[in-house]
Amino acid sequence: MTRPRILIADDQPDVIEALRLLLKSEGFDLQTAASPAQALERVRERRFDAALVDLNYTRDTTSGKEGLDLLGNLLELDAALPVVVMTAWGSVEGAVEAMRRGARDYIEKPWDNDRLLATLRAQVQLGHALRRSRVSDDEPPDQDLPELIATDPSMAPVLQIMKRIAPSEANVLIMGEHGTGKDVAARWLHAASKRKDAPFVPVNMGGFSEGVFESELFGHVKGAFTDAKTDRVGFFEMADGGTLFLDEIANTSTAVQAKLLRVLETGELQRVGSSETRQVDVRVISATNAKLDQAVRDGAFREDLLYRLNTVEIRIPPLRDRQQDILPLARHFLERETQRYQRPGLRFSAEASASLKKHPWPGNVRELEHAVERAVLMTETDEIRTGDLGLRPSRTGSLPLEELKLDEVERTLIERALDRHDGNVSRAAETLGLSRSALYRRLERHDIGDGS
Ligand SMILES: Nc1ncnc2c1ncn2[C@@H]1O[C@H](COP(=O)(O)OP(=O)(O)OP(=O)(O)O)[C@@H](O)[C@H]1O
Ligand SMILES: [Mg+2]
Repeated sequence: MTRPRILIADDQPDVIEALRLLLKSEGFDLQTAASPAQALERVRERRFDAALVDLNYTRDTTSGKEGLDLLGNLLELDAALPVVVMTAWGSVEGAVEAMRRGARDYIEKPWDNDRLLATLRAQVQLGHALRRSRVSDDEPPDQDLPELIATDPSMAPVLQIMKRIAPSEANVLIMGEHGTGKDVAARWLHAASKRKDAPFVPVNMGGFSEGVFESELFGHVKGAFTDAKTDRVGFFEMADGGTLFLDEIANTSTAVQAKLLRVLETGELQRVGSSETRQVDVRVISATNAKLDQAVRDGAFREDLLYRLNTVEIRIPPLRDRQQDILPLARHFLERETQRYQRPGLRFSAEASASLKKHPWPGNVRELEHAVERAVLMTETDEIRTGDLGLRPSRTGSLPLEELKLDEVERTLIERALDRHDGNVSRAAETLGLSRSALYRRLERHDIGDGS
């Protein structure tokens, strides 16, 4: 890859010098500007992969106005230029205003070198993706894409960014509650990418016990451990040339996080028990229902790994915030199920449609899918009624445990534990006194979360 070209605009020579030292040593190609006028001149001359721009130029000003004007002018010259603004420590308002006007990110002075580098690298990568997608916006949609229903206005920005970044090589982190469609989104991104003819390999990062994890992910050679009777290819190698989907990424143990980071940084791995280095070329899409930035603050998730994974972040809203998607999704599932169970002509009654729209859908799209399937099986007439849907009252409803069946008690406790820990399976398992894999089996049985 050619060296990313960065523009730095700042009026303080010592800041420029410090950035020059740091970025040169990290392989960036630099141009500097001491004033907004100079910065604009540079951008007129050539194209940059990213710009790092101070908000204040005249001595003793702190309003940030000069910087904000510069930002606007830069984007006018090159709308796809990723601009990162620098602000004095503690003046976040300026940064927020800059983001509102099109800056991609901000850095507080004095900056943290690692964060600054990670931010710039991410923006360079994203900038490349955006430039490429500008050219291909008019291409006809691909016929092989998985069906992704998104008619609610809140999904428009999600779809827009997915379309833009799918053809790029950027790593993508998909966030959203259980059952919101993270899995479909990941498959869609792969199918819309240049890698679509290579494998899509999903890996549930919470689904293994610590011991086997490394060999599942990286493979092993015969004799590496007692049960290793033959060589084995790991998920990374299976996904070579394609997409590796790391699902439930928050549940990755710290030991595995370190190994994952190394492979992502170098593109090289060693099978367990072998010293031979292998090259792999994978695009990583990961998904989580946990708050990863919180996990980083708690020390449970490595920040450097997060920066590798979240070049682009996609947030899928919960179904309760996507009112206009409920009925289209319900009809989509109805059509599928009526074919599967050979019940043509089935439809929702007006009352059932109203109930569907009113329900809070704590289990999101998956819950809706199951409700429709159940209704198709239960209904005795051609018209599905509310009762056929089997909608359970919201789980936050405080039914005393004594009134539930044993199975429902288990389910309720599991759901509460997951809620309390923001969907983090490891911690929920700990609270419940279960091993992680034991909890996974129960999630599957109760159809909670990662059941499919
Ligand atoms: N927008 C959509 N259009 C059509 N089907 C969808 C959509 N979103 C989700 N589904 C369907 O709903 C079900 C649940 O979605 P999915 O498995 O992608 O959710 P998830 O976010 O990965 O859930 P979890 O957090 O539990 O892993 C799947 O069967 C999927 O096909
Ligand atoms: Mg999933």
